[in-house]
Amino acid sequence: ARRRRVLSGVQPTGSLHLGNYLGAIKNWVSLQEQYDTFFCVVDLHAITMPHEPKELYQSTRNSAALYLACGIDPAKAAIFVQSHVSAHAELTWLLSCQTPIGWLRKMIQFKEKSRKTGNEEVGTGLLTYPVLMAADVLLYQTDLVPVGEDQKQHIELARDIAERMNYKFGGNKWKKLGGRGGRIFKVPEVFIPPAGARVMSLADGTSKMSKSAESDLSRINLLDSPDEIANKIKRAKTDSFDGLEVDNPERPEARNLVQIYQLCTGLSTEAALQAVGHMRWGEFKPALADAVIAHLEPIQRRYNEVMQDPAYLDQVLAEGADKANEAASWTLGNCRQAMGF
Ligand code: ADP
Ligand code: NA
Repeated sequence: ARRRRVLSGVQPTGSLHLGNYLGAIKNWVSLQEQYDTFFCVVDLHAITMPHEPKELYQSTRNSAALYLACGIDPAKAAIFVQSHVSAHAELTWLLSCQTPIGWLRKMIQFKEKSRKTGNEEVGTGLLTYPVLMAADVLLYQTDLVPVGEDQKQHIELARDIAERMNYKFGGNKWKKLGGRGGRIFKVPEVFIPPAGARVMSLADGTSKMSKSAESDLSRINLLDSPDEIANKIKRAKTDSFDGLEVDNPERPEARNLVQIYQLCTGLSTEAALQAVGHMRWGEFKPALADAVIAHLEPIQRRYNEVMQDPAYLDQVLAEGADKANEAASWTLGNCRQAMGF
């Protein structure tokens, strides 16, 4: 039997941050050992919001280099750029025609992002990008999609689309067309890692750490210098309680910062609370900064090495695209045939 397949990706908008790392990429590193893994830089998603072409090109490469720096191993995983595999765009069209608009209007991220952008500026892609995401996942007959809590709704949509397509075009109908019959798409499962599912902003502790938030305090970027990291943590919002805790709903900042501490040190929640629970903010913040800086230091070092060897990065991405293309073409071919092309 083939190994179960995993696919995930991050948008190359701006710089990758601690939420992307602790909520996504860090888990990919352990998944690549057990699963048949595909990790992509989803550059087609990055143009759903206003973008600069030159920056997109650069941050796509930077993101791929960060995947490598974080420990994704091209010998164990296909690392590729979404736009290098044209099946993503083609399948999106086929799926779009079978996706009711009502399903898309319900997506929370669409509601949030379109509110931010202002109605005149909202591109059609902002509404339909969950269909592109469904195509990303379904093309690879993916079993598991590791994502943060924020993406759960989109994976559920991908499941609904897969089921609808299988029902409408799969099974005997497809067989009568000369196809193999049965299911066109595997229905994927969401995989939410137990810890680190949601890293919050340093500005308030209650909104998600995100590339799109305006305040620079909302996120720690993976490539921030030690000084920038220490400075952001110093300015992070706190409260007037003494000591630290993770279960008090009135203390989202404490919960978030202790969680970041825990994930960067590799301690359990109990062990982390034992180490820092008694501290006041003034004592905890430098300890947290040290932990984050130490955790990111080897990643930043490897990132600089990769960026000094562009030919190596090109080669990794070309091999990843070949592997992805092979898997994706198989599914796309089936879907085209079943739909009558
Ligand atoms: P962003 O929201 O920063 O634009 P993406 O939408 O590209 O990031 O998400 C890429 C991956 O990173 C997804 O798996 C998503 O769930 C995860 N992720 C993004 N932000 C966070 C966060 N604050 N905490 C945990 N995981 C996150
Ligand atoms: Na997101």
